[in-house]
Amino acid sequence: MSDYIRKSIRQIAGYVPGEQPHGESFIKLNTNENPYPPSPSVSRVMSKLDPSSLRLYPDPASHGLCDAIAGIHGCNPEQVLTGNGSDEILSLCIRAFVERGSGTVGYFDPSYSLYPVLCAIEEAETLPVALGPEFEWTMPDSYAASIFFMTYPNAPTGIQYRKSLVRDFCETFPGVVVIDEAYVDFAAEDAMELALAMDRVIVTRTLSKSYSLAGIRLGYAVGPAPLINAMYKIKDIYNINRITQEIGLAALSDQDYMRDIVNRIKATRERTANIMREMEFMVYPSDTNFLWVKPPRISAATLFESLREEKILVRYFPGKRTGNFLRITIGSDDEMDAFANTVERIIKR
Ligand SMILES: Cc1ncc(COP(=O)(O)O)c(C=O)c1O
Repeated sequence: MSDYIRKSIRQIAGYVPGEQPHGESFIKLNTNENPYPPSPSVSRVMSKLDPSSLRLYPDPASHGLCDAIAGIHGCNPEQVLTGNGSDEILSLCIRAFVERGSGTVGYFDPSYSLYPVLCAIEEAETLPVALGPEFEWTMPDSYAASIFFMTYPNAPTGIQYRKSLVRDFCETFPGVVVIDEAYVDFAAEDAMELALAMDRVIVTRTLSKSYSLAGIRLGYAVGPAPLINAMYKIKDIYNINRITQEIGLAALSDQDYMRDIVNRIKATRERTANIMREMEFMVYPSDTNFLWVKPPRISAATLFESLREEKILVRYFPGKRTGNFLRITIGSDDEMDAFANTVERIIKR
């Protein structure tokens, strides 16, 4: 049977998403979802949805969304592409900008673990750049690739690189730079201006985190019109369904609400980081909605398992660079208190 399956697909393990439990109730701090509901304008739109409109295909170009996104970032709608989550945009970047058979893809190791999976699917050669001991980066001499995924801020470390370094990199790197800003609303600064000014830089964003809309699957890219148009040509025709287009537009139109929940999460993040430092965890400075921590006197794998037994999910990435750490999504204040109390109990055992 396997003869019918492409060799490269037979060989890949596929992406392993964070656990989405069914039935049992867990405190879920494992997939960087937002603990707060989306904007009230989303509920208003949902209550008015007309089921009969679902007979019709959605707008293939998501004009309403693209206009709104262009308005937010001060660019033309031709510089915007919407995706079925920003994951779809990342996949389109490889398919549009990496030549089959000879193209190469760069990214930092560790960074978003989906990049190598997308490369394997497209049979693109990977050129990962290992981060240093403190997860900082230095590019190897004469480094080149067809595209480079710059996760900004980085995941799973939560660390934000200096923007001047990113700008310098974009100016000298010979291929397309895709700045993956999935978490940027939780950071002090963003790099959107680079995508608006440079002809080989794309920024990707998502509504999954700061807008609390992981369930509708909506992300977008902003960049030079020719690159955006190349991705538009190869995307699924109706990649953003009608309901997502309406809900996404409502959420994007309420920037104040997004800023408000982001600020709450940032305050909880700093409070949780302090509590964990008091418990002698090594906690990296975070510009995201999660913390990257190294536990004291207990292995990360054991703490991960013990928390799971206590119905608290966090994210553990086995492996040489990541296996001593846990990634903890910032939940509500009550969730983080329950998390911290449970951790304290486990490490005292
Ligand atoms: C760095 C990074 N980029 C992109 C994504 C994908 O987000 P989306 O839900 O928009 O597909 C994630 C999701 O966790 C992420 O961590």
